[in-house]
Amino acid sequence: MNKTLIGLQWGDEGKGKVIDYLCQDSDVIIRYQGGNNAGHTVVIGEDKFVFHLIPSGILRKEKTCVIGNGVVIDPKILIEEIDSLKKKGIKVSAKNLKISAFSHIILPYHRIMDSLREKGRIQKIGTTKRGIGPCYVDKVSRCGIRMVDFIDEKVFSFKLKDNLREKNNIFRKVYNFKGFSFKALYDEYKAYAKVLKPYVCDLIDYFNDNRNKNFLFEGAQGTFLDVDFGTYPFVTSSSVISKNAILGSGLSFVKTKKTIGVAKAYITRVGEGPFPTELTGKLENSFRQLGGEFGATTGRPRRCGWLDLVLLKRAVLLNDVTDIVITKLDVLDSFDSIKVCTQYRKGSKLLKSFPYSLEGITPVYKTFKGWKSPVNNVRKFSDLPKAAKQYLSFIEKFVEAKISFVSVGQKREAIIKKQ
Ligand code: GDP
Ligand code: IMO
Ligand code: MG
Repeated sequence: MNKTLIGLQWGDEGKGKVIDYLCQDSDVIIRYQGGNNAGHTVVIGEDKFVFHLIPSGILRKEKTCVIGNGVVIDPKILIEEIDSLKKKGIKVSAKNLKISAFSHIILPYHRIMDSLREKGRIQKIGTTKRGIGPCYVDKVSRCGIRMVDFIDEKVFSFKLKDNLREKNNIFRKVYNFKGFSFKALYDEYKAYAKVLKPYVCDLIDYFNDNRNKNFLFEGAQGTFLDVDFGTYPFVTSSSVISKNAILGSGLSFVKTKKTIGVAKAYITRVGEGPFPTELTGKLENSFRQLGGEFGATTGRPRRCGWLDLVLLKRAVLLNDVTDIVITKLDVLDSFDSIKVCTQYRKGSKLLKSFPYSLEGITPVYKTFKGWKSPVNNVRKFSDLPKAAKQYLSFIEKFVEAKISFVSVGQKREAIIKKQ
């Protein structure tokens, strides 16, 4: 059974935790877009792992993890991630980690450009400053450096020199930034290329040789950060939605049987952009503290709000979701009442269809009674408090997709499979 897992909100839905659980039934776990703007957390006992580039399945023995062509890779960060896993006793080798030769690499000039452009903008995006956008720009404008180029010293040297000539001009003339020395950059990065070379392969051949395996695609970011369907321009620079799994990996023959969408029992967002159900003050702070809502990548406080069902229904449609996972239900344990947004209003007008922009939208809420008891130790759906079941049942009916799993805590075992 092949599966695609996708974030249904603005990221940080708990995808890492769900991948760690779901991959028990899979052989190969594949990242197909994004880069180290992602931070996917898996908590096992007292150990916490945060993955930025390596698929969250690496902790399970016998699984193969794949970084597809659609991913942009910061070599330095990837090597750090591999080393830190090895230090914790996790095996990482060319046997269980494969990197597409066609993935593109992030260099320091991408990171600096990300920061300088963000600093200079009147309308800020609030990027992670990891160089993601500038790297995708280079890919599309055909001056990107792919893994296959990177691991060939001559090609890397030529392309880097060629790029630096133009980029240093732009850095100096437009941004008043000193630019980069070819030698320093080349010497540092050619050493990284040597480390990564054994992992690089032709994924098309790899997939073909492993046709009978079960594949699990690990989406990063979330549906409303998608460059086409998200809250543009407050989005990331990749195609996030489920159908991009094929393009971002080259795994053409797989018919994905299940698309599993992950949503928090409320909603968060990091960075700028419209957010209809955003809370302020004490209530927002309660969510942030109870849910530990600080970025796994940048440490920035996440903006928090009530669950937005209008948005969730749209995400189900966009990704052709077959199963929903609701995470962080436990975070709502102590609330007297819980709200969900069921309709949008603009001024005095109730909207009948999904708006082109979420700017200036106010939410219409339905209020539920809180369950006021801890769900962290519940392992059977029928054992959940009645009010929690009513909340979940309303979500299912509203978005017209079934909830198959409910996550009730950070730890690996804190998950309920709904029969
Ligand atoms: P991802 O980017 O979608 O993988 O999500 P992150 O790892 O960035 O953020 C999710 C956070 O919530 C992490 O700290 C997880 O450990 C945590 N988490 C995941 N599921 C649950 C849950 O059901 N309850 C609680 N309390 N925390 C959870
Ligand atoms: P995971 O996979 C939450 C947000 C950034 C910013 C916008 C653009 O952990 O869910 P970028 O650096 O991509 O150009 O930033 O996208 N963003 C995320 N927010 N979770 C993520 O990943 C994100 N990846 C990017 O905060 O608003
Ligand atoms: Mg995250």
